[in-house]
Amino acid sequence: MEIVIAQDAAAGARAVADEFEQVLRAGDGAVLGLATGSSPVAAYAELIRRHREEGLSFAGARAFLLDEYVGLPADHPQSYHRFIREQLVDHVDLDSSTVISPDGAAADPAEEAERYDAAIAAAGGVDLQILGIGVNGHIAFNEPGSSLASRTRVVALTRSTIEANARFFDRAEDVPRHALSQGLGTIREARRIVLTATGEQKAAAVAQLVEGAVSARWPATVLQLHPHVTVVVDEAAASRLE
Ligand code: F6R
Repeated sequence: MEIVIAQDAAAGARAVADEFEQVLRAGDGAVLGLATGSSPVAAYAELIRRHREEGLSFAGARAFLLDEYVGLPADHPQSYHRFIREQLVDHVDLDSSTVISPDGAAADPAEEAERYDAAIAAAGGVDLQILGIGVNGHIAFNEPGSSLASRTRVVALTRSTIEANARFFDRAEDVPRHALSQGLGTIREARRIVLTATGEQKAAAVAQLVEGAVSARWPATVLQLHPHVTVVVDEAAASRLE
């Protein structure tokens, strides 16, 4: 696991964007794994800038989202699919029909979860997965206690995650209670992973991620078992590292 402590938000965004640029420039047909939430937004903005000013192209790439709320169709204003279009896809030359998220409106979410894992496998797996981390160490919606081998599945959101995500909704009651989330086993199959975190509130989770024992108590610790992970943090998020 490589740890990059960035001097400021712009430097962190550049370090994350560098990972994407390497994969995109390596050849046609890159399969990207995209996250939502606030952590990757600065890196997405940097990628948009490189696309506009430096000709970085996403043509031929495909993407899979980490997760989606159960009950929200892809075009819902608070869906993760809509979020990723607004924050990245609509501003670069990535064909939106190749950006796939779990279908939150599927009649049978459990069947949709199986179909989603099969679709990732059929695409040849994810070349580069970007991740944020929750204050409790979750990645995607794999809350503490999730099996380290878990596959994409329906998960119940914890109260703390519902409260944290309420900022994106008009009312806390509107936050869906379930999500379709890639599992920890699914995420670990990505060939390369970059996790980014900023702020003191993420410091405990980052310390566990880097130095804690691998355990379902802190789901992100599973990344210690992965051969190619880069963690990009600011000084506040790194402040509890030994
Ligand atoms: C988002 C996701 C979540 C977030 C995490 C951190 O697709 O799967 O695990 O990465 O909750 O959220 P932010 O970045 O908003 O602090």
